[in-house]
Amino acid sequence: MNMAYPISRMRRLRISPAIRRLVRETDLDVSRLIYPIFVSETITGPEAVEAMPGIFRLPLREAVRKAVEVFSLGIGGIILFGIPARKDARGTEAANNDGIIQKAVREIKNASPEIPVITDVCLCEYTDHGHCGIIKDNNVDNDATVEILAEVALSHARSGADLVAPSDMMDGRVGTIRRALDANGFHGTGIMAYAAKYCSAFYGPFREAAGSAPTFGDRKTYQMDPANAREALREIRLDVEEGADIIMVKPALSYLDIIARARSEFDLPLAAYNVSGEYSMARMAAAAGLFDEKRIVLEILTSIRRAGADIIISYHAPDVAGWLE
Ligand code: PBG
Repeated sequence: MNMAYPISRMRRLRISPAIRRLVRETDLDVSRLIYPIFVSETITGPEAVEAMPGIFRLPLREAVRKAVEVFSLGIGGIILFGIPARKDARGTEAANNDGIIQKAVREIKNASPEIPVITDVCLCEYTDHGHCGIIKDNNVDNDATVEILAEVALSHARSGADLVAPSDMMDGRVGTIRRALDANGFHGTGIMAYAAKYCSAFYGPFREAAGSAPTFGDRKTYQMDPANAREALREIRLDVEEGADIIMVKPALSYLDIIARARSEFDLPLAAYNVSGEYSMARMAAAAGLFDEKRIVLEILTSIRRAGADIIISYHAPDVAGWLE
């Protein structure tokens, strides 16, 4: 029998909202979303990030309040980014046990121990030159940086972070961090590895938010070339072998093919980072009347889930919680 039209009619299953819901293949739940919070040591009240409408740098106390608030909306967890009062060539402040991130983790866990707290592990917000590691001969010194990153991750674990998330793209950092955590008894602290992180113009607004733009050069010697897909699988495989618990692809929207390939090759939980530029594009275009914000954001996030991401880091998370209520 020929099953083509008129036997098959695809529109039968699109006839009503309830039927469409019944056959929907992908769902978007706020429990899958992680919300980024910028906590700053240099301010006493919220400070708007101009490049990211709706996003604020927060002083410690308000960052804690924000974490508790978004968790009460059902959001899956938070990831913390720090803006320190002091920067130097080696990013020393990043591993300070009384640094801004370490304090924020302790206070959030104190206020609400069940909130999954993830910390971004990188030096770019802490170095005076804005690179993600320490500089030697005008280049980021991989192995020296990895040692420092392990100290940073350890200080986050001591403060109570559930997961540390290295975003620097140095070679070997996941393994070095895993060994440092285990050697100090933090067997239960996980690693969410920014495994395939591209050198992307979509990070532009974040660098204003975090004050982390490099003062010279770019990140092309450590972040990935946007033209490469097979290389992403190699990067991810290495992080898995080194002990990553969750792998991440970043950015998300221009990299849905990478998310889909990572999903089919690996069985670890897969996160995708819906980055600052993706957020600001959607917000600003919606504010300009180009399209409906709720529809565009839900479509973007659903497409990231459909490509295969289990978890999405997104600045839209609290808005989504309101829309999906
Ligand atoms: C730190 C870091 C960056 C982002 C997350 N961690 C910036 C960068 O690599 O330049 C970007 C996040 C975003 O754009 O939302 N290395």
